[in-house]
Amino acid sequence: MTSLLVTNIGELTTHGPQGTVQHASLVVDEGRVAWIGGASNQPLTDARLDVEGRAVIPGFVDSHAHLVFAGSRAVEFAARMAGEPYTGGGIRTTVAATRTASDETLRANVARLVAEAHAQGTTTIEIKSGYGLTVEDEARSLRIAAEFTPETTFLGAHVVPDGVDPDGYVRLVCGEMLDAAREHAAWVDVFCERGAFDVDQSREVLRAGAAAGLAPRIHANQLTAGGGVQLAVELDAASADHCTHLSTADIKALADSRTVATLLPGAEFSTRSPYPDARALLDAGVTVALATDCNPGSSYTTSMPFCIALAVREMRMTPAEALWSATVGGARALRRDDIGQLSVGARADLTVLDAPSYLHLAYRPGVPLVHTVLRNGEPT
Ligand code: NIG
Ligand code: FE
Repeated sequence: MTSLLVTNIGELTTHGPQGTVQHASLVVDEGRVAWIGGASNQPLTDARLDVEGRAVIPGFVDSHAHLVFAGSRAVEFAARMAGEPYTGGGIRTTVAATRTASDETLRANVARLVAEAHAQGTTTIEIKSGYGLTVEDEARSLRIAAEFTPETTFLGAHVVPDGVDPDGYVRLVCGEMLDAAREHAAWVDVFCERGAFDVDQSREVLRAGAAAGLAPRIHANQLTAGGGVQLAVELDAASADHCTHLSTADIKALADSRTVATLLPGAEFSTRSPYPDARALLDAGVTVALATDCNPGSSYTTSMPFCIALAVREMRMTPAEALWSATVGGARALRRDDIGQLSVGARADLTVLDAPSYLHLAYRPGVPLVHTVLRNGEPT
């Protein structure tokens, strides 16, 4: 691999010791950031990329996405916009479509969505199963997901399939399904919610996953103020995701823990729900991540810039907080320290914006602002 000088950067956000650097240059070597500095003392390199005064940010880390599925729920979305509530019941519609799809169809769908995400500046993406819900369909969902990312998550406990006994299903998830899934999965997740899995069932699933070597994360407090966040903290889960309905005790528990609160404002947008109280979380010192939750039901977007714009406009995060949460926050939610920031030694995952400042991510909503994406120092 050759060394590359990225030069003439108008504004470089590192999220590392160098902070924000104006008129910056950055050297990539062997896929890593090797040097950061000004224009005057740039080292010699094999190749050069002049970004002509554009802003450069760390690549987005989308730590929550459900990309392995078939079919569409556009009609369900339209009904919701006409006043129907979101209940999660539509998950079963996607399960039916996913089970009948071929491997090639599922793979092509994931490839299309991953390409969409990359084109919008995402350089790391987590992918969950959860629309198979049989031993074979969950294993193949994860096998396909693992072709695209190391951050794969077993979500066999998404809902109880139609006509199946709930206790028997939890036993299946914790036994045979986990055995088939574990070789393709890094994480275990559960939808802890009324109508899905209660706290005791969720604990059983996450403990079984952890015993099999999968680290826990959890869909918590999305539709109701249940016990999901407290369970996440109890189990030292990497992340409690959604956090839409939180008590003061939930916020305190998160603040006293290592568990990241991952906010998914695309879901509130697409289900017309109240947004989580990001300010209360941030002001309490909780580590906050932003992610897309891309899925065909509650949030069919792959766009981290869209989520940043929502976070700023609807959740009162500052543009700087929103960018941090979409990069370092996502990395923390995946317990990674090599991504989300551009300090020397970090992976050279970076996004060049067709704008002079990262502020434009929220200032120019809906506008495609990504100019170039480097992953591991390579253009994608
Ligand atoms: O994160 N809440 C559970 N799972 C997804 C939605 C899945 C669906 O509606 O298909 C979510 O919002
Ligand atoms: Fe989700």
